[in-house]
Amino acid sequence: MSISAVEVIVAKRDGAELTDAQIRWFLDAYTRGEVAHEQASSLLMAIVFRGLGPRELATWTDAMIRSGERLDLSSVPVPTVDKHSTGGVGDKISLPLCPLVAACGAAVPQLSGRGLGHTGGTLDKLDAIPGFRSDLTGAEFVRQLAGIGAVICAAGAGLAPADGKLYALRDVTGTVESIPLIASSIMSKKIAEGTDALVLDVKVGIGAFMRDRDRALELARTMVGLGEAHGVRTSALLTDMDTPLGRTAGNALEVAESLEVLEGGGPADVVEVTLALAREMLGLAGIDADPAAALADGRAMDRWRAMVRAQGGDPDAPLPVAPLVEEVRAPDAGVVGAVDAFAVGIAAVRLGAGRARREDPVSPSAGVVLRVSPGDRVTAGQVLAELHADDDGHMEAGRAAFDGAIRMGGPPGAPRSRILERVAAP
Ligand code: URA
Repeated sequence: MSISAVEVIVAKRDGAELTDAQIRWFLDAYTRGEVAHEQASSLLMAIVFRGLGPRELATWTDAMIRSGERLDLSSVPVPTVDKHSTGGVGDKISLPLCPLVAACGAAVPQLSGRGLGHTGGTLDKLDAIPGFRSDLTGAEFVRQLAGIGAVICAAGAGLAPADGKLYALRDVTGTVESIPLIASSIMSKKIAEGTDALVLDVKVGIGAFMRDRDRALELARTMVGLGEAHGVRTSALLTDMDTPLGRTAGNALEVAESLEVLEGGGPADVVEVTLALAREMLGLAGIDADPAAALADGRAMDRWRAMVRAQGGDPDAPLPVAPLVEEVRAPDAGVVGAVDAFAVGIAAVRLGAGRARREDPVSPSAGVVLRVSPGDRVTAGQVLAELHADDDGHMEAGRAAFDGAIRMGGPPGAPRSRILERVAAP
């Protein structure tokens, strides 16, 4: 049987269903370098417009998983359960969540990524901790998971390498925003990671990939279906990302806020999402435990400290602090109407906390600290936010990007719940 790349591209361009053989051949040939980038990008664009049917998506995801290794976590003595977020601004939830769920009796194998675009990445945040290593070998990863139950590190290149290549290509060819491509990209890595169960935090709103709730719901249902089809118990929470999560966006700033949560305090919305995801994860793992108690009595903090130490970090070392801090003040009295998550995310990147290109360095200390939330009454001259940067150039760029991020004119009152909806297998 001979298959050509052009034949596969033309079939999808014209709206045909691809055969399993065509999908497997194409992904395998592209991963091995036998299909050219321009041909793969044509097929991706055809998929953006034509979509993938359920059988095509199942085969596409399976081929991505089989492009690399599948980790064996069978030596871990307790149930494994992971969480994946589709990415947001101020989304530091993995930091308190991973040790919290471990403290409740599950093992959390968190393979995480770096920030790209306006959203932050968990590994960039952890890098702000002096000495912390996120480049563990597979053996170190499994040993720490079995011993401490909590590990957050980078996914090795051997895990779903087809996704590594395709994701880099999608990033530069306008082909990221496709539900089957996003779902297969995320789920191939999570299934290859070998976790027993998975909870997805699908962000919806201005600061998320999916601004529209119906599309976010479709993405969540698609990913839950893929997980269940591969024997991974999977559920999803849709959570609000119109406003940044918590009060900080920036690497060390978000570590500090996560420590507040692990100390039993922290912003109400970060605590709400952390506990909701922890309950969902423990439910899928079949563990009857109260995560709120584990936060309050210090067990989650103990597990955090053990995890940081195991990965070479010093949990007691001071976090880096930016040399320049500038306050943003309210020009007039009023009620805060909106804190725009996208604008805050872009401002944090321009201040130095994120990167425009994959190879750019990030500042551990730069970012935004918010002093108000939607619904807060403020007086003229009150501090609304702080901008943190390492130098004048970044401060200037961040200040320009932050302009208009906080809009006045809302009804007064407490912020609404972040949890919008739960999606589980039928
Ligand atoms: N995260 C991923 O890993 N893949 C996508 O396609 C989008 C977000």
